[in-house]
Amino acid sequence: MAEKINLIYFSPTGNTKRTVEAMAEAAGGEPGEMDLTVLGEARRRFGKDDFVIFGMPVYGGRIPAAAKQRLENIEGENTPCLVVVTYGNRDYDDALLELSDLVKARGFVVKGAAAAVGRHTYGEIQVTRPDETDFTQDKAFAAAAFAKPQDAPEPTIPGAFPYRKGGQGGSFRPLTSSGCTKCGICVRGCPVHAIGADCSTISDACLSCFRCIRSCPVQAKNMDTKEYREFADMFTKKLCVRKENQYFL
Ligand SMILES: Cc1cc2nc3c(=O)[nH]c(=O)nc-3n(C[C@H](O)[C@H](O)[C@H](O)COP(=O)(O)O)c2cc1C
Repeated sequence: MAEKINLIYFSPTGNTKRTVEAMAEAAGGEPGEMDLTVLGEARRRFGKDDFVIFGMPVYGGRIPAAAKQRLENIEGENTPCLVVVTYGNRDYDDALLELSDLVKARGFVVKGAAAAVGRHTYGEIQVTRPDETDFTQDKAFAAAAFAKPQDAPEPTIPGAFPYRKGGQGGSFRPLTSSGCTKCGICVRGCPVHAIGADCSTISDACLSCFRCIRSCPVQAKNMDTKEYREFADMFTKKLCVRKENQYFL
């Protein structure tokens, strides 16, 4: 593998980050990492000797609009890449096609595409995923993609254009219990700066991504409402059958 591997991901709760990191392992060496949940990343230009792995979660069958906007700082020059989405065992709909179209328009050449299952943000769906079986498959896929001859055709990716409506955050707003120590981890970690300095005021920018809930060291951030619990129970029952990852070369 001659090219330098670079990971570019938006991953509020970590499924996508862990998935693209597993893929990078197939190349060996330390990948460069660009975390799009952190605002203010500089403009980046990649060349022919780079290899980029793009990773995004699926929000309503699309790429999160907030993440899509952050790709505008990134350009390739016939740079080979993989496009990867992770989704919560419902469906990825048009998200993988959308990500592929986006990066192609920015100068990248798609060598492979993957739709991988991760724990859903809401309810108790596939809570242990991505798991070791997923990572083994991810690595095998990446190794095959890295080995593809330069002139091999691009993969055919499922999805339809015009894309379905989606890409917005959810409507649940995290609550903050009296146990909050105001440590500020949630404030600093919020991908869209939706949490006020008091750790509890939430603005309309909130994506309902649950990063604050998962990262709170004292479990003060929560979604403990009747409305959420009912939705989560229904959703958990509906999506209980394990789906397998899909890879396109
Ligand atoms: C607002 C929102 C919308 C989502 N929409 C979908 C969806 O359409 N299909 C699906 O299977 N999972 C959906 N999910 C679940 C995420 O795609 C899944 O948990 C993903 O792996 C999260 O990635 P991350 O851990 O890198 O943030 C949604 C999650 C959120 C927060």
